[in-house]
Amino acid sequence: MRVDYSPDSMPTGAFYRLLTAVVVPRPIAWISTLAPDGETANLAPHSFFTVACTAPPVVQFTSVGRKDSLRNVEETGEFVVNFAPEPLFAEINATATDFPRDQGEFEVVGIEREPSSRVRPPRVAASPVALECTLHSTLRLGDSTVVFGRVVHAAVREDVLMDGRPDIGRLRPLSRLGGNEWGTVGEVRELARVPYRDRTRD
Ligand SMILES: Cc1cc2nc3c(=O)[nH]c(=O)nc-3n(C[C@H](O)[C@H](O)[C@H](O)COP(=O)(O)O)c2cc1C
Repeated sequence: MRVDYSPDSMPTGAFYRLLTAVVVPRPIAWISTLAPDGETANLAPHSFFTVACTAPPVVQFTSVGRKDSLRNVEETGEFVVNFAPEPLFAEINATATDFPRDQGEFEVVGIEREPSSRVRPPRVAASPVALECTLHSTLRLGDSTVVFGRVVHAAVREDVLMDGRPDIGRLRPLSRLGGNEWGTVGEVRELARVPYRDRTRD
């Protein structure tokens, strides 16, 4: 037995809650941007986030509605995806408050920043990975806007690398689940993909 849901016969919010409860876990992009005044540094988590293209490297996040992060990206053409690690749980959530645009979350919440290498928005100093992006394009979809960012630089803290590669046990990513739920990494399993030529018939 299955329960059926039709988006056409449900309130938007109810279907949104269903979608975000089943499209899980979602990685969290902690997006930093700079207002056009060049001063106010904005920071907000976005879990509608993924890799959009590998060559060139492009990532994407979605703004549901028109928020400060989106406006800043549109007006300045730059943003940074800061990795959202477990130890910064409370800080990340604190930057999801709907502060007025002239109140930068770095200042209000008390997040230490550091300069980026290739773009003007600052990086979160305590975050182990920063993907510095220039705006590639945006796509308006109904009430949302998908932002595509070309990754022009990646800065990874040395202590999260193992044998030269980012290690999941050291990164400790947070994820977004349904409602107000957050996830942490559980058991990690490795399994190599099987090339077609190696498949055996028995
Ligand atoms: C874990 C988490 C994930 C979120 N993901 C998104 C998202 O993908 N898109 C979005 O528009 N808002 C998302 N939000 C809400 C924004 O972070 C929130 O609206 C924030 O105030 C936007 O800030 P801004 O106006 O400074 O851009 C999320 C909130 C949390 C706590």
